[in-house]
Amino acid sequence: MSKVFVNIGLSLDGYMAPEGMTLEHWEQPEYLDWGAKWGALMAWIINQQYFRQNLKLGPGGETGPVNDLLRGTTERIGANIMGKRMFEQGERAWPEEAPFHTPVYVLTHDKRDPWVRPGGTTFYFVNDGPERALELARGSAGGRDIRIAGGADVIQQYLNLAVVEELEIALAPVLFGGGRRLFENLREPGSRWRIDEVLAGPAATHLRYVRAPF
Ligand SMILES: NC(=O)c1ccc[n+]([C@@H]2O[C@H](COP(=O)([O-])OP(=O)(O)OC[C@H]3O[C@@H](n4cnc5c(N)ncnc54)[C@H](OP(=O)(O)O)[C@@H]3O)[C@@H](O)[C@H]2O)c1
Repeated sequence: MSKVFVNIGLSLDGYMAPEGMTLEHWEQPEYLDWGAKWGALMAWIINQQYFRQNLKLGPGGETGPVNDLLRGTTERIGANIMGKRMFEQGERAWPEEAPFHTPVYVLTHDKRDPWVRPGGTTFYFVNDGPERALELARGSAGGRDIRIAGGADVIQQYLNLAVVEELEIALAPVLFGGGRRLFENLREPGSRWRIDEVLAGPAATHLRYVRAPF
């Protein structure tokens, strides 16, 4: 059966996105540093060969354990789930061939027809809550795993449903000082976790936690 896992980048102080991270804020002086902070968060991935191939950024790129980890994670995914705010940013920033190549279930209050992209990604807009999105994802993942891709709001809902079996976090050595915090709004008692794998990369520490038995 498909596993449900979270896979994200996190700042050292626990944020998934810096304060004011929207394209509208790109040129506003009070948010000038969000691009730099986001760049520092994602620095580990940008030059990986697999990432470059997937986004058609051209040949080259680093190979090695971080690239292997990225490939392994991506290839295990049969369906993705994300929130509307993550989708909205990606809708404007992803290339036409969106980098998922699976069904993607977007939790939203918006009513919208599926959005089919070349390369195997179709975005489905789900108005019936996180359990329904997970049911749809399980039905379409072909036995592969289901990634809860973000943002924080959606991950918190799945953590509160206690359906997340693995947490994969690329912990980057950057301090945001504010923004979208991952670990908040969580019900007690939450799931317990054990450390499964730690890979020290040059631009992030790659952590995998597996849910411990209740
Ligand atoms: N660091 C990383 O690896 C990473 C990964 C992913 C995203 N991010 C960042 O995280 C930020 C977005 O995170 P976020 O926590 O602000 O938002 P989010 O989780 O992406 O989206 C939240 C929105 O999704 C909709 N939604 C969520 N649950 C719903 C439900 N049960 N029913 C109906 N609609 C629901 C609502 O929008 P509506 O009511 O408008 O429909 C809600 O405001 C972005 O800046 C993104 O770039 C970072």
